Order: sequence, then structure tokens, then C-alpha cells
Amino acid sequence: MKATAKAHTNIALIKYWGKRDESLILPTNSSLSLTLDGFYTTTTVDFQEGLMQDRFLLDDQPVEGDAYHRVTQFLNLIRRLAGREDLYANVRSINAVPTAAGLASSASGFAALAAAGTKAIGLELNDQELSRLTRQGSGSASRSIYGGFSEWQMGSEEDGSDSFAVPIASAEHWDVRVAAVVLSSRVKKVSSRAGMKRTVETSPFYPGWIDSISKDLKEIKAAIHTKDFEKTGQIAEANCLKMHATTLAADPPFTYWNDLTMRVMQTVQEMRANGIPVYFTIDAGPNVKVLYLPEHEKSVEKTLREIPGVTDVILSKPGQGISYL
Ligand code: PMV
Repeated sequence: MKATAKAHTNIALIKYWGKRDESLILPTNSSLSLTLDGFYTTTTVDFQEGLMQDRFLLDDQPVEGDAYHRVTQFLNLIRRLAGREDLYANVRSINAVPTAAGLASSASGFAALAAAGTKAIGLELNDQELSRLTRQGSGSASRSIYGGFSEWQMGSEEDGSDSFAVPIASAEHWDVRVAAVVLSSRVKKVSSRAGMKRTVETSPFYPGWIDSISKDLKEIKAAIHTKDFEKTGQIAEANCLKMHATTLAADPPFTYWNDLTMRVMQTVQEMRANGIPVYFTIDAGPNVKVLYLPEHEKSVEKTLREIPGVTDVILSKPGQGISYL
């Protein structure tokens, strides 16, 4: 009982930042992302009779500890859904997500695991069911079921039955590009899980964040449909700044940025002042992702590479949703 699936990671333009239920992974706000072609995970799940436990190889290295635990917990959900709690699996994942790029490999990882695992065990889920299941491995992964732009609707049910992602526009709809800017120095990492928890519980800015989401979502969806790049970029950049502002007011306060993060943000703003439409967004780490249009690719890449402390710039087009190999 074996299947292989490929999933791409995604970058949020409207961020998911906060959980209302930690174990079911239910968010406090809806979010919206673009799936990226350049970053993906390919996973084979092989359920076999007679295995005594799950095995997980990531890039051909056996994984133990917390990451292994998250995978087996997720396989438990699949086993339970299929009524096959007697089966264990060999899981093999290959990540084409340069970890240093600071793009969530958990998004492509859990989306590929969910797709391969359910297929291998003989479950036939539609996209919404698959997204809802994937959400329970990693929230942002729920959006990686689809190509192009997708929205994770937070839902309101306590059991999470209405919390899943839906497609907003395909990868073919609009060729918006993303440059992942990799920086040399690192700050001590606060995981997204710990960061959002602390922010929800202690930041006085958090209610302001929540209040602003529905307007951002409504406006960015309209801008995506009409392919209004400036509007899309403005909303995404402002939404990112708002999310990061909530962490500065947490107790104890923290930030994911470092000096190089600020430098890249300033360079993006300078490019814009010089007439090139570019916008940034940042997740739970110091690296910056820059949104641009294909006709500006050369100048954007060159300018970003010239910033001292930038070690790499990885360019990506919009990517496709789940595929089975
Ligand atoms: O799904 P997680 O636990 O990887 O959290 C993702 C949180 C952000 O990347 C900061 C925002 C987002 O919506 O992807």
C-alpha cells in the first residue's frame, strides 16, 4: 500500500498568526497565500503489514525526536480515518526546499505526507477534506493543496470541520514572482508555534491585528482577481508589518528581524522609490521574500544580490497544487 505525492510550499500574503485551538490547529484568522514552484517536497508513504512502528527518512537520513513524533501523530489521523490502526508505514521525504531560504518546509512536507498517506491507505478525499486533514499537521500546509493563490478559511466550528483552504486563483491566472532572499546571520529562533502563542496570550496589539484581517482579505482578493500588482503588494507588505508589530508588544517582546532583514526591507522600498514595483513579506524568521513581476526579474535579482550579507537569492514562479507520481 504505497503512494508518492509532491507538494509545493507557499508564502502567505495575509498571514496566519495565532491559534484558537492548539491541538486541532484552528486559527484565529483566515489567511491567503501563493504556492511557489521552486520549493517542494516529494514523499512516499508505504503502509505495510507486520511493521512494528513507523519509520521516517528525510533526505535519506532517519529522523527521530520531535519531527518524528509529528509525523507519527499525523499518520495516526490517517490510520484512524481509514480504520486501519494496525498498520505502520515507511515514509521517505525529499525536500527541494533549501532550509536556509527560511521558507516553511513544513507546509510542503505535511501537504505531501497527507496526500501520499491517504492515497496509500486507500482513502479518497476531495481537496477540501485533504486540506482539512493537512491543517492538523501544520496550519500553513492546508494552503499547499492548491496551486496559485489559496485562502485558508478559519471557520467557526469547534471541531474544525469548516476550517480548510479553498482555491482563489490558479498559478496560470497571474505570473507573480517571489525572490527568497537568504541572509548570512541568524537570530535565535522562536518557532512560529511558540511565537504565535506568546503573541495571542500577551500582545496588546493582537486584537488590532484580528480586527484588520477581513478588510485585508477582501481587498487583496479583489486585487488578485484584477491583477493589480501594486495593490496586492501594498496589502501584503502592510499585513506582514502588522503581524511582526504584534511580536514587539508581546511579553516578553521579541522580533524575527535582524539588521540584514531591515536592510533588505529598505532596499525594497528604495527600488520602489526608483519606479520598480516590488514589495516584501517576512515569516517567522529573518529572511525576506520579495514580490515582483517577471519584467523586473533581472534588476530585482541584481539589486538584491548586491546587498552586503545576502548569501543567496532564489527565484520562484507560482506553483501547482498536489500531484501524485
Ligand atoms: O503553519 P506554521 O506553523 O508553519 O506557521 C506559519 C506561520 C507564518 O509562516 C508566519 C505565516 C503563514 O501564514 O504562513
